[in-house]
Amino acid sequence: MGKCLHTKLDADIWPDGTATGPTGLSFAGVSAVELAARFGTPAYVLVEDDVRHRCRAYRDALADVEVAYAGKSLTCRSVLRWVAEEGLSLDVCSAGELAVARSVGFPADRILMHGNVKTPEDLKAAIAYAVPGQPAQTGVDRIVVDSLDEITQLGALARYPQRVLVRITPGVDAHTHKAITTGVDNQKFGFPLGAADEAVRAVLAQPSLRLAGLHCHIGSQVSSIAAYEEAARRMVTFMGAVRDEHGIVLRELDLGGGHVVPYLPGEPSFDLVGYAQRMRVAVNYTASVLRLPAPRLTVEPGRAVVARAGVTLYRVAAVKGSFVAVDGGMSDNMRVSLYDAKYRVRLAGREPDQSASSATPVGPASPVGPMRTVTVVGRHCEAGDVIATDVPLPADVHAGDLLAVPVTGAYHHSLASNYNQVCRPPVIGVRDGVARVLVRRETEEDLLARDVG
Ligand code: LLP
Repeated sequence: MGKCLHTKLDADIWPDGTATGPTGLSFAGVSAVELAARFGTPAYVLVEDDVRHRCRAYRDALADVEVAYAGKSLTCRSVLRWVAEEGLSLDVCSAGELAVARSVGFPADRILMHGNVKTPEDLKAAIAYAVPGQPAQTGVDRIVVDSLDEITQLGALARYPQRVLVRITPGVDAHTHKAITTGVDNQKFGFPLGAADEAVRAVLAQPSLRLAGLHCHIGSQVSSIAAYEEAARRMVTFMGAVRDEHGIVLRELDLGGGHVVPYLPGEPSFDLVGYAQRMRVAVNYTASVLRLPAPRLTVEPGRAVVARAGVTLYRVAAVKGSFVAVDGGMSDNMRVSLYDAKYRVRLAGREPDQSASSATPVGPASPVGPMRTVTVVGRHCEAGDVIATDVPLPADVHAGDLLAVPVTGAYHHSLASNYNQVCRPPVIGVRDGVARVLVRRETEEDLLARDVG
């Protein structure tokens, strides 16, 4: 990484290949200034090699485990191509995500569909999934069933043998934000352990369905490997109960995703190698005590694959006191409003002016230029439309500056809206000094095309 005057880049929160220089930041050899000039702002920049490296880290750490990318974190054709090329499977939760998968020929035998509500259209799309020009398999490999009603509906729609997993909430609290906690009882996902046998019976009663195994997902932004171990032990124990009750040995166990990602320097990273080892031990030990064969494991990381690869570029529109207002906001980053998420912000298009005198230097011996504490806000008509509260930026930040916000690869584009009829930003892929549009910017024509009244 190049010399940086205002603060050091923290490799945990910036994509591989991020560098600093006199003209600001660059990503995979493409400068932020050039990106903004060519593609406009706000823009999501996505570093292809960072995504690929994360895929490889998962494949290496979990060589005998199926790694299914959770498409909800960021679905676009290129990302699905990259993860397919890197040997990952795909976890989808809607007919829309499947449509993108089909458009890039994602193999049916590497797709699973889940979701607490699957509409009849979702189920039909999953059952009918086929890739033109690819051999025979029709239908996604597995559907994760989430309610008794859904089991009945799927049973009526499916052709034998549609493989299913039953989603179970193992009663483990992963201690994450309540909006993304899913493993505890008394919430809308799956079957609590106490009701899981009824679900198993319901699947077994459907001639078109074949019960392949179990699924759980305890939440998102989970750092506790102990929580995953406990969930795994409970799931395998229930597999033993299914064998004892129904004489069926289930061969597959999907342990979901949720692996924590740092958004700020110093926040915990996921211990992938430790997870791989401890999960294996928890599953194998519990299985051997129960005299069950160890199941084939699947994991479903989304955020951990794409979050750090993404950076959002904004242009400063105005500076008002301690507010720095940019040309995007909650329409491209809902996470602050939804989860009180915290972000770092950095000047991206130049080095700060070292002689700026209106502010307090960070410290006498500091190599950092004069900084001040600001709140970066968006352009939308809500007081809660904030990107980052009380963050340090160079004291001379001014209208026209480019800002970069890291760790925006996951759940930013996918949660984006066109609130206030603001057009959604493009996704720009960068690799080896070359930038290309992966998803183009939404236009006013796009907005009007849907509005047919
Ligand atoms: N598997 C299932 C069944 C899930 O529901 C999810 C995420 C994942 C896997 C992937 O979780 P990840 O590895 O990405 O944490 N919008 C929120 C996150 C919602 C997660 C929903 N389910 C956010 O921006 O933090």
